[in-house]
Amino acid sequence: MTTTIQDATLTSFIEELGGLVDRHPDEHELVEVVADRLRAALSAGIDLPPSMTKPGVERYVMYPLHVDPEGRFSIAAAVWNVGQGTPVHGHETWGVVGIHAGVEHERSFAKPATPGTPLVQDGEDSWTAGQVTVCCTTDDDVHQVECEGDVPCVGIHVYGADIGTLPRRSYQPDTGEVSWFTSTWTAPAG
Ligand SMILES: [Fe+2]
Repeated sequence: MTTTIQDATLTSFIEELGGLVDRHPDEHELVEVVADRLRAALSAGIDLPPSMTKPGVERYVMYPLHVDPEGRFSIAAAVWNVGQGTPVHGHETWGVVGIHAGVEHERSFAKPATPGTPLVQDGEDSWTAGQVTVCCTTDDDVHQVECEGDVPCVGIHVYGADIGTLPRRSYQPDTGEVSWFTSTWTAPAG
């Protein structure tokens, strides 16, 4: 799978990403550089078609904007409708999130060092259109997000793997109990 929409700003961002990934083997360095580039791209304007911003009826959806053929990174349009959110989950890779529309409410948790122990929340933020946040590095990748406000939240998410096929952890925060899941990609809305 390659790029699924034509947008000049997004195309330039994608072309740059491969080089950034190759030049920054340290995730902690890479996410800061990617965040800067994504912030600039959002400021320049990324035009997403309605097929990539339509909320799902049952749950949040992840539309593929680009999946690197070598599996080094992927970019999703993630859409939360009003009232929708995620369980507490991990990513098992790095990730950078930019808000395209709406407001995303995020609670962050320390990645548990010991399996089966309750999670400890270590952050809480509300992210608005144009803002960019480092959502995760492999060693610090646990959070829960939901749509805040009365319009759907659309985010452009950049991850260090094909996030639609990557097995990830979901956590029961009170107990630390883990179950594994895969997001799967949503086909663009017709
Ligand atoms: Fe997430």
